[in-house]
Amino acid sequence: MDHVALDVSGTSDSIHDRKRTKSLRRLWNQLSKCQRSCIYTIVIVLTLTVFYLVSTESERTQISLAESANENKKEVLHNIRNDPRDVDTVFHDNDSEGQVLEEPGGLEADSNRNQVLLPPKVVKKFAGPTTARQEAVVKAFKHAWQGYKQFAWGHDHLKPITEGYSDWFGLGLSIVDSIDTIYIMGLTKEYKEAREWIEKHLHFDVNRDVNLFEVTIRVLGGLLSIYHLTQDRMFLTKAVDLADRLLPSFESESGIPYSDVNLFTRKAHAPKWSPDSSTSEVTTIQLEFRDLSRITGNPKYENAVSKVSLHIHNLEKKDGLVPIFINANTGQFRSYATITLGARGDSYYEYLLKQWLQTGKTIDYLRDDYVTSIMGVEKHLTKRTVPNGFLFIGELLVGGKDFKPKMDHLTCYLPGTLALGVHNGLPESHMKLAEELLTTCYQTYAQQPTFLAPEITYFNIQGENSNDMYVKTNDAHNLLRPEYLESLWYVYQLTGNKTYQDWGWQIFQGFENYTKVKNGYTSIGNVKNPLNVRPKDMMESFFLSETLKYLYLLFSDDPKLIDLDTYVINSEAHPLSIYSS
Ligand SMILES: *[C@@H]1O[C@H](CO)[C@@H](O)[C@H](O)[C@H]1NC(C)=O
Ligand SMILES: *[C@@H]1O[C@H](CO)[C@@H](O)[C@H](O)[C@H]1NC(C)=O
Repeated sequence: MDHVALDVSGTSDSIHDRKRTKSLRRLWNQLSKCQRSCIYTIVIVLTLTVFYLVSTESERTQISLAESANENKKEVLHNIRNDPRDVDTVFHDNDSEGQVLEEPGGLEADSNRNQVLLPPKVVKKFAGPTTARQEAVVKAFKHAWQGYKQFAWGHDHLKPITEGYSDWFGLGLSIVDSIDTIYIMGLTKEYKEAREWIEKHLHFDVNRDVNLFEVTIRVLGGLLSIYHLTQDRMFLTKAVDLADRLLPSFESESGIPYSDVNLFTRKAHAPKWSPDSSTSEVTTIQLEFRDLSRITGNPKYENAVSKVSLHIHNLEKKDGLVPIFINANTGQFRSYATITLGARGDSYYEYLLKQWLQTGKTIDYLRDDYVTSIMGVEKHLTKRTVPNGFLFIGELLVGGKDFKPKMDHLTCYLPGTLALGVHNGLPESHMKLAEELLTTCYQTYAQQPTFLAPEITYFNIQGENSNDMYVKTNDAHNLLRPEYLESLWYVYQLTGNKTYQDWGWQIFQGFENYTKVKNGYTSIGNVKNPLNVRPKDMMESFFLSETLKYLYLLFSDDPKLIDLDTYVINSEAHPLSIYSS
């Protein structure tokens, strides 16, 4: 607009002006009628053109002004959250506890596109430990973190005995996986360190094949969870970049994802050892990808994973039970594969229930498939031991023909999932099953002199001797796994029965006595011999992400420290939002 105003303002010499006006009028009178109307036309056209240009320009200016105002607002929010000093506010400023943040716009969900009511954006605050047992768990976390920081910082896992590290995906797994644990425990200094590493050093353009499932539950889940808790958009930006690199996994003929994908070339393929994907892997990525779609308003992530669930829903099953392998090209189960609630089967069942909860109990087939599968478990997989009648879950081999009285420790996640279902209106009878399994899993710990469960336990169903359970030498290791502690926390939160806190405390003592080493905690090779546990020199990221988190939650005075009516927790202990549909 400024240049138009300049043209209008003329010279200040008025005499000169008047002279010029006179000679112009004389010139005008000399023109023919045709010439004059020609000039009129030109003037009118020019005026109209100028008017048009000016008005669109000003419209554009207004839009860009509005945009930059928006940007500023975003920038302010962004800066608030990116300022490391603000971490103190996040932890200690109780005035703004539960403060609802303004919708920043932009990346945020476009409600027209999704038709989903988003939960309010709340920065969640945690005050730190309030019980002596929680303090002990925080001390354990700090001990593990110290060793990781000193010898493995930025690498996936700490090797605490040789004072080294190991890289699996090269994504700083221990940091990304544990940052929400750190936040929930109220560890300000550790939170700053972890956040800064993620912001500056977590890059996904690594030329390496990664496992879709593992990276989804640990890294994508970890980023989304800390984003939900803090509303810090730096984590969301990382999550979007990662998910875009994982998406090519779904470009198979059937839509069932390949197990591996290269984050740099974005090329996906089946695992080297088999043409098949694991059933639990392709069905344990839905919570994370859906959550990302709901946050960003971009439906492509959710579409890819919903298609997988629907495809599997339509396949034939044995009373709701699924074989543990599925071919990404044909989209069919491997027919003679094992049926188990342990490795490669477990979280298929878990995510049926949790997806149903995440979507506000609106997708009926998920609930129905879950309830059917639990009936299948009771019909085909549960048996009792001799002589004490402990209920356990076994496996079916060769596509369902042979029963094997063997239970992975992984299966001990099930009591927690069952209790969560009952809390949400599913059959009461599931609670009885949950409590019995909780007792059996407790026995797998209590019957070992280290008070630590082995990876796999076998059960006595023939009455050949007087032991209910036994452990093979090759199965006697303990990888610091969380599944049983997870179940104890669920059942404790939902029943308030403090016996489960005491059980968790006994197990924690087992970890303290036999897995704690100078620079952290280590997996061990033998739970059967307290005098020689054979340390394996490896601290898995799930020890920080899950095992210590569930212990911390279990020992809280407030069973709803992470409320199961607000959060659905992914398979790697990362809390995500529950939506209304
Ligand atoms: C672990 O150590 C504590 C303290 O020394 C002891 O009371 C407890 O019995 C030990 N537990 C096991 C399973 O060794
Ligand atoms: C708490 O759980 C234990 C172990 O399952 C059980 O023996 C006890 O009866 C329960 N207590 C209550 C009050 O339900």
